[in-house]
Amino acid sequence: MGNIEAKAVIGTNSWGGRAYGKALRGSYVPDGVIKDAMREAEKQGLMIYDLARDYGLGKAQKMFGRFAEELGGDNIIISAKYTPFAHYKKNCVRKSLEKDLADFRRSYVDIYWLHLPTDIEQHLAEIIGLYKEGKIRNIGVSNFDLAECRLAKHILDKAGIPLYGVQNHYSLISREWEKNGLLDWCRENGISFWAWAVLEEGMLTDPRVKTKFTLMKLFIAREKRKMRELYRVMIAVAKRHDITVPQVAEAYCVNKGVVPICGCRKPKQVRELAEAVNVKLTSGEIRRLEEAADKSGAKVLGHDLFRFAVPEKRS
Ligand SMILES: NC(=O)c1ccc[n+]([C@@H]2O[C@H](COP(=O)([O-])OP(=O)(O)OC[C@H]3O[C@@H](n4cnc5c(N)ncnc54)[C@H](OP(=O)(O)O)[C@@H]3O)[C@@H](O)[C@H]2O)c1
Repeated sequence: MGNIEAKAVIGTNSWGGRAYGKALRGSYVPDGVIKDAMREAEKQGLMIYDLARDYGLGKAQKMFGRFAEELGGDNIIISAKYTPFAHYKKNCVRKSLEKDLADFRRSYVDIYWLHLPTDIEQHLAEIIGLYKEGKIRNIGVSNFDLAECRLAKHILDKAGIPLYGVQNHYSLISREWEKNGLLDWCRENGISFWAWAVLEEGMLTDPRVKTKFTLMKLFIAREKRKMRELYRVMIAVAKRHDITVPQVAEAYCVNKGVVPICGCRKPKQVRELAEAVNVKLTSGEIRRLEEAADKSGAKVLGHDLFRFAVPEKRS
């Protein structure tokens, strides 16, 4: 059932209502523009959408399902998640997946991620059951460290099911999963590594382009001051390849063997992501980008940002 070869993925966290869009991104993008972005994605061959129940304050999944149906997108690949906000309860995954499937207007999801490493054994056992029923076609884990990934793989191996992927935070300025061996482990085991927030919520976009104010951007602005040299290198690399600054951040991930998930709301962003996948950076460019990123010391979202949401293990 597996064999999904992901090159880049469209993130949907910022899809949704007017107030949410303004608060999160500083601007509201009308539904019609998001639908146009989906049309563009099909044209560009970007067929994978990353979704979760809470994205867009619960609106993103419903929007996606409606638009996918209207656009006749039967070949769209759905990446969805179970988010354990609390300890495992019998049938919690099934109930959640059933609601998701109603949102998606589908009878299965292509990839289903356990969103947090909470009660791994119990949650995975239920996910495995749903996989065997054909409601889930591939299983992944998200925000897991290396030991937790090994445990997940062990559980799935015993059931004869491959671990499809790991979905963690990774970007040019947040490469801890590479430094602590998780990325190598994924590579060695043929497990796909998907990176969320490769644009760091807009911090790895062009500093010369003005964007609307949000509280997040106030925080980002402080970090951006540390990144002058990194921006200089990104702009130089962008010029050399005739691409944009965010495309450098996206291409960087692809060149590291990582699948970028980008928060695209507009056709142009989709087009740029599709182009970035094919940009070949030189080893010298990668080295210069990494050196400048490391020297900056800038950080917005920690690589293990969501640890606080993992409840203590029951004794
Ligand atoms: N597994 C997890 O725990 C987890 C956690 C968080 C996120 N995710 C996934 O990862 C996805 C990506 O994260 P994100 O959406 O939060 O942030 P992101 O992709 O890091 O950044 C989005 C920001 O970049 C801008 N942008 C996107 N493409 C651009 C382009 N080509 N040129 C210029 N600017 C561009 C957007 O602009 P606009 O404001 O104009 O749209 C927005 O400000 C999410 O949507 C979600 O699917 C997963």
